[in-house]
Amino acid sequence: MKDRKKEFKHLVTSLDEVPQKILEGQEQKVLASPFRQQIHIESKMGQLNDPNGFSFFNGWFHLFHQSFPLKYTQKPNYFEQGWHHYKSKNLVDWIDLGQAISNDTYFDKYGAYSGSALPINNQLFIIYSGNSWMYTETDNWLRLPTQMGAWMDKNDQVRKITTPLIKGSLDKYTGHFRDPKIFKKGNIYYVIVGAQRKNLTGTAVLFKSERLMTWDLVGEIKTQFNKNFGYMWECPDYFDFKNKGILIFCPQGLKTKFNIFQNMNQTCYCVGDELNLSNGKFNGTIVKELDQGFDFYAPQTMLTPDGRRLLIAWMSIMNGNDPTKKFGYTGCLTFPREITVIGNSIYQQPVHEIENLYSSHLQGKQEINCEKILIGKGRNARDIKLNIKIQHNGIFIFDLFSDPQNRKHLRIILNAAKNRFIVNRAQSGINFEDEFGVERSCEFNPEKTVKLRIIQDISSAEIFLENGEKVFSLRVFPDQKQNYIFVNSLNAKTVIKYEINELRIMKVEGKKNV
Ligand code: FRU
Repeated sequence: MKDRKKEFKHLVTSLDEVPQKILEGQEQKVLASPFRQQIHIESKMGQLNDPNGFSFFNGWFHLFHQSFPLKYTQKPNYFEQGWHHYKSKNLVDWIDLGQAISNDTYFDKYGAYSGSALPINNQLFIIYSGNSWMYTETDNWLRLPTQMGAWMDKNDQVRKITTPLIKGSLDKYTGHFRDPKIFKKGNIYYVIVGAQRKNLTGTAVLFKSERLMTWDLVGEIKTQFNKNFGYMWECPDYFDFKNKGILIFCPQGLKTKFNIFQNMNQTCYCVGDELNLSNGKFNGTIVKELDQGFDFYAPQTMLTPDGRRLLIAWMSIMNGNDPTKKFGYTGCLTFPREITVIGNSIYQQPVHEIENLYSSHLQGKQEINCEKILIGKGRNARDIKLNIKIQHNGIFIFDLFSDPQNRKHLRIILNAAKNRFIVNRAQSGINFEDEFGVERSCEFNPEKTVKLRIIQDISSAEIFLENGEKVFSLRVFPDQKQNYIFVNSLNAKTVIKYEINELRIMKVEGKKNV
C-alpha cells in the first residue's frame, strides 16, 4: 500500500506559509533555464497543468491553470495545488493575477482540481473539483471528489461557495469523478463531469441545474464507443457547433494502434448530432485524436463574444519528465486556437490575435533540390507559413531547431512516395519521454500544394497541417547551437512559398511571485 501521508506531509493552503528562502531559491532555479518560452504561458515554478476557467468576463479573457508551485522543492516538498489566474484583452499579452483558488477548505484540502467558468449576472461563476481523501489515518485512503463552486466579481476577487454543489461520486462510480465543464442552453445550466465506473471504465456524466446551487443528474453521456474506452475520462468538454454536437474528452489507458494513441494518455473528440440534454444520448461514432503531437492534454474551449470557439490545452503529458524539471518547473499551455468543424473533423488554427506579436517578416519562393539554410539568425518565436509543392516521389525535409553540423533538428518530413507526413524528434536536443516513441505521422495528399503552419517558440512547436485538420504539438529542448531552419528535397525538387513572421515576446504584467 502506498504511503500517501508522505506526499502531503507539508500541506499548505497558501504560499505565504512557505519560508521566503525556499520561494526565492525556486525562483532563481527557474531563471537559470535556457528553455523559457516567449509567447506561451508557462509554469512560474513547480508544475503547470490543465487550463481552467477559460472565459470572457467583464471585457477580459480570463484564463486559469492548475498550479502546483512547490512540486519540485526538495525536503520538505510542500504541497499546495490550486488555480493560477491570468487575464488578457487580446489573448497574447497577459496580466498575471497570481493564485486565485487555493486548497483551503475541507473539500479541496488535497487539491483544487480542474473546472470551468461562465459569466452569469455580472459575476463569473466557477465550478471545479475539490479533491479530498478520507480514512487518512489508515493505509486505505479513499478519494472523496466534490464539485465546488465560486463566484468571481468584477475586481477579480474569488469567493468560494462553502457548500459543495455535487457531493461524492454517485453510486456507480469510483472516486475518480472530476473536471466539470459548464455550459448553458436555453435557461438551463449543464455540467459534464469526467468519471470512472466501478468496473474501471471511463465515461462522462451530465448534470443540469436552473439555479446553480443544486444539480440534478441527467445521466451518463451515452455513446456507442464508451462501453470500454479507457479506464477513466478526464477533462470532458461539450459544445454545439452549427447544429452539430462536439464531445472532447481525455481517455486514459487506450492501447496504441499503429500511429494513433501513442501518448501516455489521449485527447479525443467525436462529432455527432447535438447532445440530447434530457437523456445524455450522443450519436457520434467516429472518434479521432484532437492533436497527434507528443505533448497535448486536457484542452478546454470557450465561446468569444464575436462567436468564435477557442481552445487551449496543456502542452505536456502526465509524466512530467521534461528536462525543465531540473530547473524546478514543468509545463506550458498551447497558444490559444480557434476551432471550426467541417464534416467529422475539427480544424484548429492559432487565434488571429497572434498578428499583434508580428515584428519582422520574411517571405519568398524557392526551388529546393539540395540542402539549404532558410534561416540562420538565431532562435526566436515565429509564425511560419509554408505552401509546399512536392514533385512525384519527392521527399521534402524541413528542419526546425537545426544545427546541421551536429545533425541535430526537429525534423518534419513530407514523403510523397509514401503519402506520409512525419514529425521526428529523435535528434531534437535533450531526449525525454522516448518510451512513447520519437516519431508521429499521418497521411497526406502530395498531389496538392500542401499547407503547413508552425508556431515555433524557444522550446516548443505547434505544427498545423492542411489548415489545422491535423495538428502536432510538442516540446523540444535544443542546445544553444540549434538555431537554424534548414530545408532539403530528395529524389525530386520541391517548390516552397514561405512567410516567416518573427514574434515579439508577450507582455506579462503583474505579480512577480507565484
Ligand atoms: C488532468 C487532471 C485532472 C485533474 C487535474 C489535477 O491533467 O488529472 O483530471 O482535475 O489534472 O491537477
